[in-house]
Amino acid sequence: KKVGVLISGSGTNLQALIDHTTNPGKDSAAVISLVISNKSDALGLKRAEAAGIQTMVINHKDFASRALFDEALHDALVAADVEIVCLAGFMRILTGKFVSKWTGRMLNVHPSLLPAFKGANAHQMVLEARVCISGCSVHFVVEEVDGGAILVQESVPVLPNDTEVTLAERVKAKEHEAFPHALELLASGRVMLGSDGKAIWQN
Ligand code: GRF
Repeated sequence: KKVGVLISGSGTNLQALIDHTTNPGKDSAAVISLVISNKSDALGLKRAEAAGIQTMVINHKDFASRALFDEALHDALVAADVEIVCLAGFMRILTGKFVSKWTGRMLNVHPSLLPAFKGANAHQMVLEARVCISGCSVHFVVEEVDGGAILVQESVPVLPNDTEVTLAERVKAKEHEAFPHALELLASGRVMLGSDGKAIWQN
């Protein structure tokens, strides 16, 4: 399956997806054919270029509305024959119209054990709540932010002296395993999103 990855930043999850899908030993059902960033200086673009993957910058600031930005994203993905979209640190909220076009075919990685700590400041919320376990979740994207059915989760301990930086680092190491795993499950048809919004697993 052809995969498009949307990024805004460092792209360490993108790198994990590249490493997985290009590893001949993994015989992946997914191939990344396009990386789109809304920021022209995203380090992830360099990672994609180094892997010989087509890149594109679509800057949200060039569009008068969220709807027009999302249309440009959609058109670029369709033009590249993308079948699955991965949000890998893409820091824009997508419109319901865009999401509905990719329902069941779009994944996001979130740095908490959902449904706890949804939203942009997950690590800060985790530390403020003084919970002892955190982790990451890879889920289908639905209109409710961080609200879709979960495919893969991994946990990590929250340590007494953790800062957002140390916790994020520990969680990211798990994201880099969980996201390729989840992409593989979707691309190989072992999981799909049911019309009731729940994941359906094949035996
Ligand atoms: C990750 O922590 C991810 O969970 C969140 O954004 C971050 C992206 O990091 N959605 P990177 O760009 O993949 O390094």
